[in-house]
Amino acid sequence: MRGAPEQRAVFERFAKKYELLQADVMRRIERSVCGCDYGATSWTTLAEARIIRDMLALEPRNRLLDVGSGSGWPGIYLAEKMGCDIAMVDLPRAGLRIALDRAKADNIAGVGFASVADAAALPFRSDWFDAIFHSDVLCCLTEKLAVLTSCRRVVRAGGKMVFSVILITPGLADAEYERAAVSGPPFIAADGAYPDMLGQAGWEITDHRDLTADYVKTVGHMLHQLESHADEVGAVFGEDDAAQERARRRAALDALEDGLLRRELFHVVPRA
Ligand SMILES: C[S@@+](CC[C@H](N)C(=O)[O-])C[C@H]1O[C@@H](n2cnc3c(N)ncnc32)[C@H](O)[C@@H]1O
Repeated sequence: MRGAPEQRAVFERFAKKYELLQADVMRRIERSVCGCDYGATSWTTLAEARIIRDMLALEPRNRLLDVGSGSGWPGIYLAEKMGCDIAMVDLPRAGLRIALDRAKADNIAGVGFASVADAAALPFRSDWFDAIFHSDVLCCLTEKLAVLTSCRRVVRAGGKMVFSVILITPGLADAEYERAAVSGPPFIAADGAYPDMLGQAGWEITDHRDLTADYVKTVGHMLHQLESHADEVGAVFGEDDAAQERARRRAALDALEDGLLRRELFHVVPRA
């Protein structure tokens, strides 16, 4: 795995976050900002999850793979609404444990399965899944092309993949690029454009949407909530970490308002 020490630090941060985001105040904030309370770390709102559900259009006994599922948002929600089976993979165990508990509590109709696994080497047989989903995962890892290729292997012919990703606005000058890179998710920088990487991995784009305007609103709303509940959030995260979290959100919002970051949604199918 390229950038292994940095990547490990990111997983440790996610693992800790999945536990802390179950605190009452964090779930209240998440409900107010995103409309859900799973302990999400992506920017997928309930409104967006409904669009994704319609794009996936799965049926009972269909198999959905949620890559980098964290604590189950929106994978468990999608499985609950469509009645399909769901497999979830991530590297920190903490999120997956919470996701399985949530699947049980929500009494999802299909099978719920979770595995600690690297998205770049998915431990499933080829052509197994009807659909794959991931939210803001590719911007949190280095091996983007390997993940897209691994996903391509495990989806069946006629299947589909829907995913969101945060990216640096193309064509920035060096100084702006650097600012975008430090303001976004940990591994936002990509070796190539997503449409090119998708093509190389054997995917064909069937729908491609710009989610940036909603992303700006959601980050702004989150920052406002973190500021207005600073004491309660500080009691959960610790004052220093809570202040750092606010600073990261503020930097992301500034970069977004200056047009340095984007968030996009792709619907892709295996190329024949
Ligand atoms: C932004 S979070 C999204 C989590 C969840 N889907 C949500 O919406 O809250 C990205 C997730 O991708 C996971 N991830 C990053 N690199 C991974 C890899 N190589 N294999 C599996 N999961 C990975 C992280 O651990 C993290 O849980």
